[in-house]
Amino acid sequence: MSCSFPLSLTLVFLISLHCVLSLSTFEHGKKKQQFNNSLQSNNMDPFEAQTLFKIMEAMSSDRNWRVSYPNPCKPGSSWPGLECKPGNDNHLHVSRLDFGTQSHPTCKNTATFPSQIFDLPYLQSVFFFHCFTHTKTIISVPPHGVHSSSLQQLSLRSNQALIGPIPPQISSLKSLQILTLSQNRLQGKIPVEIFSLTSLIHLDLSYNFLIGTIPNQLGSLRNLVGLDLSYNSLSGMIPFTIGQLGLLQKLDLSSNLLTGAIPDSIEKLNFLVFMALSSNRLKGKFPKGLDQLHNLQYFIMDDNPMFIPLPFEFGRLLKLQELRLANSGYSGFIPPSFSQLLNLSTLSLQNNRLTGEIPVSLTGLSHIYHLNLSRNLLDGIVPFNSSFLKRLGRNLDLSGNPRLCMERSEAFEGAKIGVSVCGSNGTASVIQPLKRSEAPSGFFKIFNMFSVLGFWGVVLDDLVYSEA
Ligand SMILES: *[C@@H]1O[C@H](CO)[C@@H](O)[C@H](O)[C@H]1NC(C)=O
Ligand SMILES: *[C@@H]1O[C@H](CO)[C@@H](O)[C@H](O)[C@H]1NC(C)=O
Ligand SMILES: *[C@@H]1O[C@H](CO)[C@@H](O)[C@H](O)[C@H]1NC(C)=O
Ligand SMILES: *[C@@H]1O[C@H](CO)[C@@H](O)[C@H](O)[C@H]1NC(C)=O
Ligand SMILES: *[C@@H]1O[C@H](CO)[C@@H](O)[C@H](O)[C@H]1NC(C)=O
Repeated sequence: MSCSFPLSLTLVFLISLHCVLSLSTFEHGKKKQQFNNSLQSNNMDPFEAQTLFKIMEAMSSDRNWRVSYPNPCKPGSSWPGLECKPGNDNHLHVSRLDFGTQSHPTCKNTATFPSQIFDLPYLQSVFFFHCFTHTKTIISVPPHGVHSSSLQQLSLRSNQALIGPIPPQISSLKSLQILTLSQNRLQGKIPVEIFSLTSLIHLDLSYNFLIGTIPNQLGSLRNLVGLDLSYNSLSGMIPFTIGQLGLLQKLDLSSNLLTGAIPDSIEKLNFLVFMALSSNRLKGKFPKGLDQLHNLQYFIMDDNPMFIPLPFEFGRLLKLQELRLANSGYSGFIPPSFSQLLNLSTLSLQNNRLTGEIPVSLTGLSHIYHLNLSRNLLDGIVPFNSSFLKRLGRNLDLSGNPRLCMERSEAFEGAKIGVSVCGSNGTASVIQPLKRSEAPSGFFKIFNMFSVLGFWGVVLDDLVYSEA
């Protein structure tokens, strides 16, 4: 994908949000090494030790593991991907297994999912990153569930050979706070049972092949702070019960096949900082209470067949830093209220059917450094002065608005942003509404045709990315 700059910003945000979560939840992890060296039980429980050996045989490329680490939890000799903690029974217990992240050991090519991890009653965190890459394997949980699990974080990420469904028995991991199953090849529906994991703080099922609807039971996850279901093939409407996730800060449902309007209940998500709904088939009105989302900093909703006037309510979300509403058939004027968004750094409104003049007040957006209004039906004189034009440089794009023109004095900058000098030709002095058939490069024709046929997401994606 070529949308490098804004995407990376988004990533930075996601990563930092994730770090905050991990820190707050797993602060105790740091204290791991501080146990009493003279603890008699440098020895593990024999059953637990055997279980750990089996897991290592399934995963690690270190064939001599049993020999090199006969007492794997022993302080000082412990394996880098393993953490142990003393229990009340005076034994050391495996509390964390970490393969493939950062400096931790990698997995062997024939690694398969070790369901024995569910037999380690003291295990709190599991990370398998880029681990199951060659040998196809599924997430297998004992058929009757796991009875005494301490697992708080299960993170299986970037495993291209991890296939099959998300097993409903995962819901027996009652202590789970963070479930990350991102960038695998998981298939099938999201099991409803997952929504009984009411301790969940972070649920990330992004970049898989999940289908079906988002169950209404989603509303049960009252402690959820982050929800990411992006890059799947989820269909149907966004459930109304989403409004019950009162602590939610990050919501990403991008790149699915979601239909209908954004539910009105979303106005209750007062803590929401990041919302991404791009590349779906959402349409219709925005919730009336959109302006209740006081904390929203990122609203990213490109590529949806909205076909409504651009809502002025966005101008009330004063913390917005990034507002992206490209390729979505928005019509009408750019609301002057947008000039109140003093922290806005990115405004993307390209490939819509916006009309009228660019509000002079946008010049006051002192933090903006990326403004794309290209391929609309804007007219009149570009209101930006030379210091504004210099500040944005190549991050300002006004091209593809045939009735827009620049004052002669700004003409030099005008050439770079795709606007010609007023009076030279086709200028503001001949303001007439364009007929749709005259819209730039036939885009809207394609736009309308495919939205009717329901090819929206796919075609538009191709169109956008092939141009970028
Ligand atoms: C470690 O535990 C033993 C007995 O359980 C105790 O006598 C000793 O003082 C402890 N050492 C430290 C450094 O806490
Ligand atoms: C704008 O950003 C600054 C710096 O990050 C912050 O202090 C300020 O509160 C923000 N303004 C609003 C309205 O959120
Ligand atoms: C350009 O416009 C901004 C905002 O209205 C103003 O602060 C600035 O002084 C202007 N710069 C020039 C060179 O006119
Ligand atoms: C503005 O959007 C158009 C259409 O998507 C894209 O081709 C162009 O590169 C963008 N311009 C900037 C400066 O981001
Ligand atoms: C304006 O454009 C039209 C067609 O694009 C062209 O025929 C005409 O010569 C142009 N006029 C000027 C003054 O450039």
